[in-house]
Amino acid sequence: MKKYEVAKIILANKPSVPVNTTVQVFAPTNIALCKYWGKRDDELNLPVTSSLSVAIPDKGAQVTLHTRSDKDIISINGQIVAENSSVYSRATAFIDLFRQKNSCFLQIEYSLNIPMSAGLASSACSFAALTKALNELFAWQLPEKSLSILARLGSGSAARSIWSNFVEWHAGTRADGMDSYAESLPYQWPELCLGILILSDKEKSLSSREAMKRCVNSSALYASWPDQVDHDMKLLHEALANKDFDSMGSTAEANALAMHAVTLASRPPICFSSPETIAVWQKIWALRASGLKLYFTQDAGPNLILLFLGKDIPEILNAFPTITICRR
Ligand code: PMV
Repeated sequence: MKKYEVAKIILANKPSVPVNTTVQVFAPTNIALCKYWGKRDDELNLPVTSSLSVAIPDKGAQVTLHTRSDKDIISINGQIVAENSSVYSRATAFIDLFRQKNSCFLQIEYSLNIPMSAGLASSACSFAALTKALNELFAWQLPEKSLSILARLGSGSAARSIWSNFVEWHAGTRADGMDSYAESLPYQWPELCLGILILSDKEKSLSSREAMKRCVNSSALYASWPDQVDHDMKLLHEALANKDFDSMGSTAEANALAMHAVTLASRPPICFSSPETIAVWQKIWALRASGLKLYFTQDAGPNLILLFLGKDIPEILNAFPTITICRR
């Protein structure tokens, strides 16, 4: 099935010409505690497994859309994006799913307060914000479940950035992906903090899409990944329901390390970690051994997200002076 066919089903009887001329929306970034790693359908971004994330409510992407009559123009943090770049072609191909040919061009202004392509889910919040903005521009009035399905067509993890709390993205089993969407979970845990530790803000050399494909096709460890996810999802639900910090942190950290083990076992091998990343893993393990309740998770890049409780902020700042602390 093709993306436009999914869009057609969801947008049956909805306007395909803009009702508004300018809209502005925000979508938060999300950090997976149990990762999405591997697709069962490359075209529709359907995952092999479910995944579970937590949003960082004040970090993400704001998108402003203005209708135009001639061509699409995209800017990120005030810089115009080249028309031959992958960001431009991915965003315009996504909008093409919803508009009539040559009838609606857009000026798309992204304002992001996280680094792009550094493994911090910048594409997740960007596509979620773009989907929410199109929903307003065309006045579709879609429910969140449908927005999550549409955002997934832009980038898999964008399915989760429609929400701003703990979120589960159900893998689903249908070929059309209508059962593969994210939902907000009922857990509240305001004491849980995340810390963004940027070790490099360079663009990553291999996209998640390519890395996932290589892992599914060649990693000797990929066969064990779905069982790892089943196990970790159960533990995470229990830990979040009981606010069991050690169980949540150790499960999220083990899940991230298992994902990175899968990438290392692919051929050719993929290593997203830098020497600095590994030095910080070891520092975290040493601090934990000395009694500090601290864990990490890592996406497809060298940067780390630290997981800790609000009461430990002074110690965290002392150990990692450059960290950006996100309260939720
Ligand atoms: O949605 P993508 O294609 O950017 O893939 C995201 C993959 C990870 O960030 C590594 C894991 C996840 O669940 O967010």
